[in-house]
Amino acid sequence: MKINGRHYQTIWLDEADPSVVHTFDQRRFPHEVVIEDLRTLEDCVAAIRDMHVRGAPLIGVTAGYGLYLALLQAPDAETAHEHLLLWTAQLKSARPTAVDLFFAVDRMVAALAPGQSLTQMQEAAKWEAGVLAQESVAQCRRIGEYGLPLIEAIHSQHPGRPVRILTHCNAGWLACVDYGTALAPVYLAHDKGIPVQVWVDETRPRNQGAQLTAFELLQHGIPHTIITDNAGGHLMQHGMVDIVIVGTDRTTRTGDVANKIGTYLKALAAFDNGVPFYVALPSSTIDWQLRDGLHEIPIEQRGDDEVKYVQGLHEGRIKQVLIAPAGSPAANYGFDVTPARLVTGLITDRGICPASEEGLLQLYPEKRHA
Ligand code: MRU
Repeated sequence: MKINGRHYQTIWLDEADPSVVHTFDQRRFPHEVVIEDLRTLEDCVAAIRDMHVRGAPLIGVTAGYGLYLALLQAPDAETAHEHLLLWTAQLKSARPTAVDLFFAVDRMVAALAPGQSLTQMQEAAKWEAGVLAQESVAQCRRIGEYGLPLIEAIHSQHPGRPVRILTHCNAGWLACVDYGTALAPVYLAHDKGIPVQVWVDETRPRNQGAQLTAFELLQHGIPHTIITDNAGGHLMQHGMVDIVIVGTDRTTRTGDVANKIGTYLKALAAFDNGVPFYVALPSSTIDWQLRDGLHEIPIEQRGDDEVKYVQGLHEGRIKQVLIAPAGSPAANYGFDVTPARLVTGLITDRGICPASEEGLLQLYPEKRHA
């Protein structure tokens, strides 16, 4: 996708120096575009934990490169084999909810064989991290292609006006490697000439909607309006939302979805107002081990500063401003779980299905006995 007219993906290996991985420091958007260099495993763990990178698919790919960078710094094959478990544990503990992180780390480990030399391990890890990245691009593109007919159908019912789509958090290309999940059908629709209008939930406390989704859509020339997190229900009651499309960080085999805090309230409002509520996801986001999202998906809790301070631009500089009594405690739940019964359908990279075990298994028959 584009920033100031130039095509980027969110993470890439330096062409001249393959010991450096580049990504954007997403904490600085939309006010500054800062490309960050990741050189060590620790850099990658910190980037994931402190949310320089975020969004389920991008977290996974960053972890993949983290393991590659750890191998580059290993003195010999024995040390590398010995430390593998420790490195994977460090990566997996960086954030708890998005299952892509665990999926990617396990894929990286599976790409390494016991008797390999250090050079072979490094090459295999570089290759596998690149494959993870390009798989993510292809999956997101397919999510876009499968989701596009939903927007086309609304457009053909209401040809005289834009299709009004509400989204929460950032499930666009900045959350992935390219295209995005929830936003992929939106980009494809816009590029096909279908008029769209996106309602962007600001997404407190970190404001991924206001800071990242709005930035992406603006860069791509897509009409959008930022709304407060509490406005969605009102808009739905007044017939101003045709469809809700959000992403997910972890989807159970029964179709429950964990996504950014506040998603559940949007699903309730959509259900009450008969607005279709779709969740877009790549296969890497499905946790086939879990059946009960509400009780089994670990929900990240972050520091209270994220609730009590708001970040913005003041006199040309990015600043944090305290908006609550310094002495008041705050709770910061990062995600919530929307039960499958509130989800109209799952837009996956293999097609659209009902949010249910049977629906998912129709698309992923190989998981029937997993
Ligand atoms: O805390 P974040 O910014 O990593 O949360 C991101 C989301 O909740 C996205 O909606 C989710 O990762 C799906 S993105 C493709």
